[in-house]
Amino acid sequence: MNKKNMILRTPLIVRFCHWCMVCLFILTALSGLSLFFPSIKLFGLVLGTPQLVRTLHPIIGCIVFVMLMFMFLKLAHHNIPNKDDILWLKNFKKVIMGKEEGIPIGKYNIGQKFLFWCIMGLISVLFVTGMIMWRRYVSDYFPVQVVRIAIFFHSLAAIGLILLAIGHAYMAIWVKGSIKGMITGYVSRAWARKNHSAWYEQEMKQVYQKELKNNEKTKSESPEIEHKPA
Ligand code: HEM
Repeated sequence: MNKKNMILRTPLIVRFCHWCMVCLFILTALSGLSLFFPSIKLFGLVLGTPQLVRTLHPIIGCIVFVMLMFMFLKLAHHNIPNKDDILWLKNFKKVIMGKEEGIPIGKYNIGQKFLFWCIMGLISVLFVTGMIMWRRYVSDYFPVQVVRIAIFFHSLAAIGLILLAIGHAYMAIWVKGSIKGMITGYVSRAWARKNHSAWYEQEMKQVYQKELKNNEKTKSESPEIEHKPA
């Protein structure tokens, strides 16, 4: 891949974390569903017998939580809403029709930011309630009523997160080039200009500043040519 006209959108460590987390999330979601719907045999095929699911589901769930927290630390600062997001919302129709050019959009648009905070909120609810429910190690320390409430909110948060993840994957397919960007890390300048114009301008400013510095460096390093009068 020629990276000359490409912009780095997602560093390797975040991409690696995202895709590992996606695989583990699918395992956790399907194994969780198999506990709720034991009659649906398809869900049960994922992690094996119910005993095995009871052991593995919480462990894999904790790994998903840790990976999402890592993504939180790496990406939270790009997901803080700002006043440009109001413009995106006002022009929502245009955005839906793929005519977002001219609307200043940062690294992530407000839809993505909203999704980011919902994912982080729901995974935190799942983690806390999951801990309370963890029969093998924790749940004995809590009264039955608290465990019941935890089970209720764990189920609600799980349904919410599964639906959000499906919506998120759909959006990623819809915006052509974004999955490729999450795999290779790089997006084309045209893609960045079309979908995230304000971020594109920031990145370009950095590229030009770097080029300017390099030019000045090579100028100062090259020996001066003396022009003697004939
Ligand atoms: C097959 C399913 C999935 C696909 C195809 C997918 C695709 C993507 C893509 C393409 C991006 C980068 C978006 C961009 O650069 O503008 C992204 C970011 C992200 N994804 Fe996924 N994803 C999937 C599943 C998940 C799941 C299950 C979660 C968590 C529950 C998740 C959490 C995230 C987060 C937190 C980001 C960063 C977004 C931000 O900072 O606003 N993804 N995903």
